[in-house]
Amino acid sequence: MFRFLLVILFCLSWKITTSAHPARELLHCLSLRLGNSSSIAELVYTRHNSSFSSVLKSSAQNFRFTTPSTPTPLAIVTPLHASHIQATVYCCRKLGLQVRTRSGGHDYEGLSYTTTYKVPFVVIDLVNLRSVQVNVEKATAWVESGATIGELYYEILLKSRTLTFPAGIAHTVGLGGHLSGGGYGSLHRKYGLAADNVIDARLIDVKGRILDRKSMGEDLFWAIRGGGGASFGIVLAWKLKLVPVPANVTACRVTRTLEQNATKLVHRWQYIAHKLPKDIHMGIAISRVPSSEDEKMMVRASFSFVFLGSIHELIPLMDEKFPELGLVKADCFEMSWAESNLYLERSPIGVPLETLIDRSSKSPLSKLFFKAKSDFVKQPIPETGFEGLWGKFHEEEARSAVMQLVAYGGEMDEIPETETPFPHRAGNLYGIMYLVNWEEEENINSEKFMGWIRRVYNYMTPFVSKSPREAYINYRDLDIGTNKINNDKGSYAQARIWGLKYFKNNFNRLVHVKTKVDPENFFRNEQSIPPLP
Ligand code: FDA
Repeated sequence: MFRFLLVILFCLSWKITTSAHPARELLHCLSLRLGNSSSIAELVYTRHNSSFSSVLKSSAQNFRFTTPSTPTPLAIVTPLHASHIQATVYCCRKLGLQVRTRSGGHDYEGLSYTTTYKVPFVVIDLVNLRSVQVNVEKATAWVESGATIGELYYEILLKSRTLTFPAGIAHTVGLGGHLSGGGYGSLHRKYGLAADNVIDARLIDVKGRILDRKSMGEDLFWAIRGGGGASFGIVLAWKLKLVPVPANVTACRVTRTLEQNATKLVHRWQYIAHKLPKDIHMGIAISRVPSSEDEKMMVRASFSFVFLGSIHELIPLMDEKFPELGLVKADCFEMSWAESNLYLERSPIGVPLETLIDRSSKSPLSKLFFKAKSDFVKQPIPETGFEGLWGKFHEEEARSAVMQLVAYGGEMDEIPETETPFPHRAGNLYGIMYLVNWEEEENINSEKFMGWIRRVYNYMTPFVSKSPREAYINYRDLDIGTNKINNDKGSYAQARIWGLKYFKNNFNRLVHVKTKVDPENFFRNEQSIPPLP
């Protein structure tokens, strides 16, 4: 009987409250936990605070989720210390508030700072937790989740030009989301994904404990390296294995329009890129540009490379492997590996290295109203398949749409599918990201642009992976399925629909881990891993 009463008391203390003043109660709870209400004012922004909106928008990358109709949090907490996160987790659980963790704010569906569920929620923004400590002798680094990949590359480069970390492109991407969802860049064919190169982590779990790899255990450590961190807790920091790169690498770009044989080149690329030596990263960006002569729009394919060697070595290699492309010295530049990332995100040559640590800078890839989707390709697409696609690029909505193809193969073929939750390994020739973006004044017609990308996605069905049609969690897409609205448990059947696409058979192991570490499903969102009931 006594045990029964205890259970009832426990349940009541954690029960969801529908308080009339949840923000005030949150502040009260935090001040009790942290013991100093004056510091609370510096950590917490509620809707009454004049900076609330600017703090909320500060790192939101998809402007689709910064409009007046977007649901906003009750409060944004900007912790300076792990104890501030522990207190926030405690208070949110106690008050029945949901939590959204934000590191760099690049989630394609805004899940780190908004919700489609009509529920009160709190954003924990890790912007102040972004230290990077590099140990050159041991070739390791400890980074806090709020750091960006640009900050990481910059700090490593300050200490060594011949070490780096194999993460993604676009310097403002946050490490918290990137590492917990996989993270590919120009080195994944050589060293695997960013998540493959994590060797330890510190995580705050649902009970507010700080766990490292040893205390969290191998199952949970496996889950946070690709399974989407937001389902399992809040990752404070990561220990990374750094990898060797030459002091100078070669970065090149070759652009061809349809009139310049782009269809044949893109088609041929599919047979070559995944088999190139691991030292070559190669991707294609397909977009529409005005022709300089007559303002007519034309489709063009832009082939980008990063090669871990000199121009002198690359040209003969490409002459042998992909002579049709006609790569010449004038297409290429030598630079540090960190600079090659700025080049890949289309910063001008010679841009200051400090651009890497400029969180506010807008790259052509960021701070847009956009919708994106992903695919994986296992068999080359026939030329006629591409020809049909070009027609879509001529439609009005595709004015600034882009389709990026990124070659796989190399180390990606050698890492088993079950090594981390990211399963898209051997057998994939390349991954695709589709993106359509539009201007603020067009946002009233956003459905028109969303319709375009959905039509393209439908069109691509016969050419891409099937059963399941695979997708990349870091290119979050709520079209592929969501959990039941705010259902705290029992979403397994629904989650399986999108879960198999992101994780294939690793989905079941993720559910198993979730059931063990967060059975009450406190850490949840539209696409979080559900526990078993
Ligand atoms: P954000 O803060 O929005 O978080 C994303 C998700 O992770 C959310 O669900 C969030 O709650 C959760 N999360 C964040 N921090 C957490 C933490 N500390 N603990 C637990 N959960 C946490 N991808 C890629 O692989 N290669 C690339 O080159 C690029 N390039 C790129 C460019 C641009 C301009 C954009 C907008 C996106 C990319 N991406 C990418 C995709 C990127 O990897 C993906 O959006 C990441 O999740 C972004 O991580 P952030 O921390 O910035 O996002």
